[in-house]
Amino acid sequence: MSKATLSYVCQSCGSAFPKWRGQCEACGAWNSLVEEAATSVPGSSRKLKGNSPIEFSDLRANSTPVARLSAQMPEWDRVCGGGLVPASAVLIGGDPGIGKSTLLLQLAAKLSQQHKCAYLTGEESLEQIRMRARRLGVENSNVALAASCHLGDILKTLEQPDGFDLVIIDSIQTLYADVLDSAPGTVAQVRFCAQELVRLAKKKGFCLVLVGHVTKDGMMAGPKVLEHMVDAVLYFEGDRGHQFRILRTIKNRFGATDEIGVFLMSDQGLSEVANPSALFLSDRAQNVSGTAIFAGIEGSRPILLEIQALVTPSPLGMPRRTVVGWDSNRLAMLLAVLEKRAGVSFGQQDVYLNVVGGLKIQEPAADLAVAAALVSSLKDKALPGDAVFFGEIGLSGEVRSVSQMDARLKEAAKLGFATAYMPTYTAKNKDIQMQPVRVIRGLLKELVGNPATRQIVES
Ligand code: TYD
Ligand code: MG
Repeated sequence: MSKATLSYVCQSCGSAFPKWRGQCEACGAWNSLVEEAATSVPGSSRKLKGNSPIEFSDLRANSTPVARLSAQMPEWDRVCGGGLVPASAVLIGGDPGIGKSTLLLQLAAKLSQQHKCAYLTGEESLEQIRMRARRLGVENSNVALAASCHLGDILKTLEQPDGFDLVIIDSIQTLYADVLDSAPGTVAQVRFCAQELVRLAKKKGFCLVLVGHVTKDGMMAGPKVLEHMVDAVLYFEGDRGHQFRILRTIKNRFGATDEIGVFLMSDQGLSEVANPSALFLSDRAQNVSGTAIFAGIEGSRPILLEIQALVTPSPLGMPRRTVVGWDSNRLAMLLAVLEKRAGVSFGQQDVYLNVVGGLKIQEPAADLAVAAALVSSLKDKALPGDAVFFGEIGLSGEVRSVSQMDARLKEAAKLGFATAYMPTYTAKNKDIQMQPVRVIRGLLKELVGNPATRQIVES
């Protein structure tokens, strides 16, 4: 047995140091070093053997595509790229209480109709899970339940012949491998347990779903290596104050990333939302200034969202800029462009911007909708209720084209919108009137075109 030496391991990036320090030199995180015994992994000190050469095979070989495990939950299946792939590992992260355990229990119940499913928990008692199952109405499903956090026992069980098709571990941070001296949830433990489970999943051919905790700044607890080890990383996010929950792909070796699935949390668990745009727009107030509808794209799917701006005179020397659901740097840039290129000044105004529904938008295509909402609020003039907006705004005030314009137009037309303010586009669309906007000044002229404001805009 090799001598165990102490080292200090950063819990956010996994770097090890011989001495404790307040800040990790590798990733810059503060107070992240934890003392861990660096025991050598059994077998690693042995000399590498290399007797049998590997065999190459041809890329063009005929192989049948793998049959995915379809859960008959369209939102989940789409996020996974068409269903779970056998012999793969999926990591699902999210804030505490967001609904990870609920989602996975519902998934296990669905899949158990055709496959053998196991749900292993280290967080709750079996009675708690049964109670949740009753609440979800899936108490009669054929799901094998176990409460255990001992990795050795779990591996031994899963290795048995005639094993499971789906294994859910809730959560990886509670697992404990007794070959390591560090506590459960530390980087060394999490890494080792995940490695062993993933190895077994590949060997036995089951789908492994790991739940991972998220630290307070939204990172997956444990090192980034955990994300490298698995085939897909999904985040389950949402605002606790809202009912919407969004399942987002961060990484997927078997499908597109940036795909989202939308769920609704109710007292009977999570239900899938097939038409999120209609839901996000359901409480929309008509004829109010400061709101614009953005035709966005999330993954492969178009989603219409309401963007709200409130611009009020500021009593402060330095006006306030508050953004929820969008990038505050992008807002600052847009305000500067509006001032310089369109002559609309927000210098003495507080600006509040909100994306309704608790969604976070990353697309630059939202620029035009945000600009329209801001100016509408500043001038206290409602935008046309049947219009959607999309387009990226450049620093010289030009409106640039964005991806998937057809999909955006189609979704807007489907929901009854009549006009789309958008970048110049040559394709024809008979369902919705396309209103090309070349420069941001042109949009303002169009929208707040009363004589008084026109003077400001054109001066
Ligand atoms: P849970 O799945 O335990 O979250 P996580 O595993 O991500 O920590 O979900 C817990 C929350 O979900 C809890 O606040 C209660 C709520 N909830 C409902 O609103 N309806 C339900 O049917 C269930 C089961 C939970
Ligand atoms: Mg849980």
